[in-house]
Amino acid sequence: MTAPMFRYVPPHPPRPDGPVPVWRGFVGERARNAVFGWSKRAFEIPHFERTVLGHRVHIPLDPALVQHVMLDNAANYQKPDLVKKLLMPSIGRGLLSSDGNLWRDQRRIVAASFAPAAVDALFPSFARAAEQAMAGWGSGCTIDMAEVSTATTMRVISDALFGGDPRLTGAEAMGHIAAALEGVGGARLQVLLGLPLIPLTAKGRRGRRGQLYLRETLSAVVNDRRQRPGDDFLSHMISALDARFPAEDAQALAVDNAATFYVAGHETTANAMTWTLFLLSEQAALQEQVSAEAREALAAAPADSSLAERLPLLRRVLEESMRLYPPVPRFDRQAVADDRIGDHPIRAGDFVSIWPWIIHRHRSLWEDPDAFIPDRWREDARATRHRFQYIPFGGGPRVCVGLRFATAEMLSVLAYWLAGWRFAPLPGRDVRPSGMVTLRPAGGLPLILSRRSG
Ligand code: HEM
Repeated sequence: MTAPMFRYVPPHPPRPDGPVPVWRGFVGERARNAVFGWSKRAFEIPHFERTVLGHRVHIPLDPALVQHVMLDNAANYQKPDLVKKLLMPSIGRGLLSSDGNLWRDQRRIVAASFAPAAVDALFPSFARAAEQAMAGWGSGCTIDMAEVSTATTMRVISDALFGGDPRLTGAEAMGHIAAALEGVGGARLQVLLGLPLIPLTAKGRRGRRGQLYLRETLSAVVNDRRQRPGDDFLSHMISALDARFPAEDAQALAVDNAATFYVAGHETTANAMTWTLFLLSEQAALQEQVSAEAREALAAAPADSSLAERLPLLRRVLEESMRLYPPVPRFDRQAVADDRIGDHPIRAGDFVSIWPWIIHRHRSLWEDPDAFIPDRWREDARATRHRFQYIPFGGGPRVCVGLRFATAEMLSVLAYWLAGWRFAPLPGRDVRPSGMVTLRPAGGLPLILSRRSG
């Protein structure tokens, strides 16, 4: 790589020299934080294997091995039963947590809502949500941009998929979702040990309350929509499920998918925007260029389907942010039948964990892997890479159904914010990635805002 125009190395969790024993995953920071405590070696080898409480877990890091699991032999790798059990109380058997025909039917049902034309129609809603957030800002204010990003993506998802239902936005919903996600991370050990999912800690009880809130709210939203159908994602999904499944299943799946799309559709996107703002706040000169690009793009026309072409630099910045901070740092599969991944024999029932967090920073795949270098995403550099070495949205048949939606939303909202405002770091504050399901900055991201003139 020739000397890049912009290069910044954000701090990352310490990497011990030797292998980290499995039991460390159940105590201290490593039990709360999926990206904490990985050894140096994990970022250098193509594959490793460990046994976690009697379960054999493979971690393929070579993109060719990842491709085998996610694409070439995807039918043999399903969502693990343990993961389904963990997710059952919040998102049931919705699209994200089902397999086989049940998955295929649901994917077909929602596909049209995420097709290019459907996403193009949402640009005004992205712009409205961005502007609504900015209305509360003032020059010199310190604002938690993690919280603002979450409130904004919640508003977008509520507008875009649920007819703007006010029950899906607001501080109470935000608190409950965060607790529910933490609860899922915390219940991991119980599920691995085969124990019933009874919350044992204060965090577990908060998580349980969060899950109940999520289910009750989404059930109420679905029931109301049955009474008064509209012309939106939820109404279309309810009638398609009714046409395909017996009444009781259709009702359960409607709530499962409402919860799935509500949570998966806003939490990840909010995190990607937050990390992008963090990285730009640390690099004033790059932020100036991104801001100038955004002002020019929005002056030419409001956000619409051609926006991505008008924001090449912001796009590269966003892609590089999701490389260093993949909003979903890991996802799992379980082998249905015996197989091989490269030279490694896989037995039916083995787990395969896919780790964007490690793959995206792997020494054999990336030059200067821990450095933020948006130039990596220039067309010529991009062409030399394996398609499974950059997988923030997964890949193969289970690739994120909201990829296009999320990209359009993030580019639009960030363009509005960066065009009008400058974001500076809070002096002396460390920003650390943390989370078991999604990757957030621990304690939020307070930034100092100032309005740009003109
Ligand atoms: C930056 C934003 C996003 C990221 C990084 C992201 C990431 C991912 C990843 C990694 C997967 C695959 C998980 C696996 O294979 O086990 C996935 C699946 C999924 N995502 Fe996203 N996602 C984002 C935004 C969205 C949005 C906006 C929506 C909906 C509006 C959404 C809905 C879903 C659903 C329903 C699935 C399951 C798809 C299936 O299994 O067929 N995601 N996402």
